[in-house]
Amino acid sequence: MQLNPLIFGTVKIEYPVLLAPMAGYTDAAMRTLCLEHGAGAVYSELTSAEGIRRDSEKTFQVLETAKDEHPIAGHIFGRDPQAMAEAAQYVEQTGLFDWVDINCGCPVKKVVSRGAGAALMKDLPLLGEIIKKVKAAISLPVSVKTRIGFNNETAGHLEIARAIEESGADMIAVHARLAKNFHGGDADWEKLAEMKQALNIPIMGNGGINTPEDVPCMLEATGVDGVMMGRAAIGNPWIFEEIKKVCSSAFRRSMQEQPPKGGTTNLLNRRDMMAEHLRRLVELNELKQQGSSLSYKYSPEEAACIQFRTHIPYYVRGLFDKKQLLMKLAQLMSVDAIMAEVDLLVAKNR
Ligand SMILES: Cc1cc2nc3c(=O)[nH]c(=O)nc-3n(C[C@H](O)[C@H](O)[C@H](O)COP(=O)(O)O)c2cc1C
Repeated sequence: MQLNPLIFGTVKIEYPVLLAPMAGYTDAAMRTLCLEHGAGAVYSELTSAEGIRRDSEKTFQVLETAKDEHPIAGHIFGRDPQAMAEAAQYVEQTGLFDWVDINCGCPVKKVVSRGAGAALMKDLPLLGEIIKKVKAAISLPVSVKTRIGFNNETAGHLEIARAIEESGADMIAVHARLAKNFHGGDADWEKLAEMKQALNIPIMGNGGINTPEDVPCMLEATGVDGVMMGRAAIGNPWIFEEIKKVCSSAFRRSMQEQPPKGGTTNLLNRRDMMAEHLRRLVELNELKQQGSSLSYKYSPEEAACIQFRTHIPYYVRGLFDKKQLLMKLAQLMSVDAIMAEVDLLVAKNR
């Protein structure tokens, strides 16, 4: 299964297997680990256009990237076309981003109740106006991350796809679930295939990819131009390398003789990855706090340990006797304490 480089506007993604934006997970620590392990591109965390307009330091921090983190999209949300255009201009002016992505899929109440995120699928003229204003305001390419619909009563997947393309978006990424279903239930790949047929701009397929082997299945079933990995990449940056292997024809031939037995990452690799992930989180928090006018309740190391809590269950999935570590997590506020517990777990599982 050949995956060709994806080109839209000035962006070239050599290997179109992207890391999905996931608020609370995909900060620069996770993104750089995934890029180093083969992710074709990444997205910034979800950033409020209104926050940028208000000149909020916290909002600017959400947009921070690591050095040489490319290709990367600045991922923004909002419902006011002018605020979105100004936010896109800010994103462009930072010089950190390769393109701007408009969120049209977030189902979280805080976002939808303000008419932004997934709510834009219920107002396609407004979505169109936002895309046009953003396109006119910047020279970077513009993409939209959307879904196959809000619910069964509002605009359908093809209407949404056409509205996005006709308004001038350069690329579209589609999570193949309705917004009303959040992240649960089966992804509807048939609708992805129909969207691909209806569109001329490149389309990324997302949703329902749980293993590397699911990637060639989605590509074959839908014809999409690339895929986007969400939860399967949490605690598993190696998945991008595994996808590359699975998609290479030589590997697929050898697998026909000897089917895959599951993950290839051994325990010590996982342990070392956790240590490196934590180290990067501490470094990011140090940079964030240095020179900031905000006051912080936690030291950089404590903040990193708190942020790492949500990743740990993913890194230790499948391990025997991980309960003790997971139960203790709320009390572990130093890198040494976390790694000592991880080392105990590794010893039990060897
Ligand atoms: C914890 C979490 C946070 C997410 N945050 C965002 C977000 O900020 N912006 C967005 O467009 N999608 C967000 N998503 C949706 C993912 O990008 C992706 O579309 C979804 O998880 C389906 O892909 P998957 O089945 O591979 O996980 C989030 C998903 C999760 C699980």
